[in-house]
Amino acid sequence: REAKLDLVTKSIKHFPDFPSKGILFRDICPILKDPGALTAVIDLFEEHVRQTHPQVELIVGLDARGFLFGPLLAQRLGVGFVLVRKKGKLPGPTVSVAYKLEYGEAAVEVQEDAVAPGEKVLLIDDLLATGGTMYAACELMKKQNAEVMGCMVVIELKELNGVEKLKPNTLFSLVQY
Ligand code: PRP
Ligand code: HPA
Repeated sequence: REAKLDLVTKSIKHFPDFPSKGILFRDICPILKDPGALTAVIDLFEEHVRQTHPQVELIVGLDARGFLFGPLLAQRLGVGFVLVRKKGKLPGPTVSVAYKLEYGEAAVEVQEDAVAPGEKVLLIDDLLATGGTMYAACELMKKQNAEVMGCMVVIELKELNGVEKLKPNTLFSLVQY
């Protein structure tokens, strides 16, 4: 487990002043380029889910980088994968939840029939910053009467205290800064 975490941590790149001055951007692209690192990420998530949430029925991934890890994990676990997208991207009847950004508003959306009432779901994304996106996705799942078992990310930016924002939903992260 330590060796896997080490491999993942070493595969994260850091870009100062992206996308704007003063922001230190954590980039997960090198994880995807290294099959060993990508396997390590999925191994670590799988271990967590099997130990903590073995009853999970569905993995729910967040637009866009949650889509990179979510389907691989879902396949490992033998469960389905559902996309939570930014508003206006999904066809057919949808439900959405709006949330505040630093400037303005955004909304996350899911297809109305994607989640069954009472279904046990785990949410996944690449990174938790303020927690606004993940919290909105949890609210969206609850609106559909799903049971949110927890949230998972590769990277947690601790100083933004997204974990507080997420409550009462819980977070599992592989790497913390
Ligand atoms: C990033 C990241 C998370 C979200 C975290 O995505 O991948 O989804 O922001 O921020 P928060 O915790 O403050 O809500 P972004 O909005 O940049 O969209 P993208 O995945 O389409 O690039
Ligand atoms: N990296 C990737 N996505 C992000 C970041 C970051 O550092 N901060 C907010 N979204």
